[in-house]
Amino acid sequence: MSAIPPSQSALLNALSGRASTPPPMWLMRQAGRYLPEYREVRSKVPSFLDLCLTPALAAEVTLQPLRRFPFDAGIVFSDILIIPYALGQNVAFVEGEGPKLEPVSDEAAIAELDETAAGAGLAPVYETVERVVAELPETVPLIGFCGAPWTVATYMVEGGGSKDQAAARSLAYREPETFQRLIDLLVESSARYLVGQVKAGCRALQIFDSWAGSLPEDAFARWCIAPTRAIVDRVKAEIPNVPVIGFPRGAGPLAERYAQETGMDAIGCDTSLPLTWIRDRLQNRFPVQGNLDPVLLAVGGPALEVRVKTILETLGQGPFIFNLGHGILPETPIANVERLVSLVQAGRV
Ligand code: CP3
Repeated sequence: MSAIPPSQSALLNALSGRASTPPPMWLMRQAGRYLPEYREVRSKVPSFLDLCLTPALAAEVTLQPLRRFPFDAGIVFSDILIIPYALGQNVAFVEGEGPKLEPVSDEAAIAELDETAAGAGLAPVYETVERVVAELPETVPLIGFCGAPWTVATYMVEGGGSKDQAAARSLAYREPETFQRLIDLLVESSARYLVGQVKAGCRALQIFDSWAGSLPEDAFARWCIAPTRAIVDRVKAEIPNVPVIGFPRGAGPLAERYAQETGMDAIGCDTSLPLTWIRDRLQNRFPVQGNLDPVLLAVGGPALEVRVKTILETLGQGPFIFNLGHGILPETPIANVERLVSLVQAGRV
């Protein structure tokens, strides 16, 4: 028997280490382009960033998937690149091309980023949280999030997405002190941002480290684990009992070290991690979340059913949150999400 009383929320129960059948579920990027009602709201604003920064609309799109599907959590509608934006970096989301940023790749550009201004820039997100929480029942907590410093830094230094994060890796190897200053700035602003989201009403947090897989072990320890640990420490110093989920995408076997050293309450697992490895190396100590292939959800059919059954059979005995191994794809048919919900709700299948 655990000392923590069971909550009304299946997600929070899983995060405190309780197994349940069926497991709680939500989907990464559950608000977004696969929903026609999202596309409609999106078409009314000039840019994606305007949507993130307009609380009434951001709250509306956060709630949209929860009206359609009986998910066990919401996730704030925003983006990990809201932090560079709030720090004063030029950030734009170009239709069909992804994010474009004015690269920050030297000492002078880093010195221009303004942490004191970040608080005011993020205020609309806190208002979104307040609006959403006012609409949600006790059983459906809202998850707040940020990107991990390493992943956010890759976009800041590259000036956008890239296939190998080479610009950020080069800067980290060539000028570690300069890169450290950027990482430290991101630790401070991200920790404050997470605390702000909890103060506004979020009851769990997730840190997305989407590019954790691009660093070797020593660099992973310095640029992924250490800054993430610093954020978790700062958040827990202010709000000791808020559960934090870490998602070190692509970390492979380093996910175990990440779990042991970051202070996370639960580990988000990407699609590539083998289920029995997750069970034996992570779930014996931590609640786990994941890891259905988003492409399989988009394809659907018998292969989807077989895989969902295997995931539930392997991970369903321990504390587990059903999710994808990465964000839902825009082309995903809604009928496939409905089918997934009924497969997971059937529990043991
Ligand atoms: O529903 C939710 O999960 C909450 C909202 C959310 C978004 N982005 C909305 C979004 C979350 C949690 C994110 C996280 C995010 N953003 C990550 C980490 C997770 C991951 O996918 O690896 C990363 C790396 C980003 C950066 C980012 N934002 C990229 C690379 C892109 C372009 C690619 C794409 O999917 O278009 C975005 C844009 C973005 N963020 C969209 C949404 C719904 C699509 C833009 C639009 O609707 O016009």
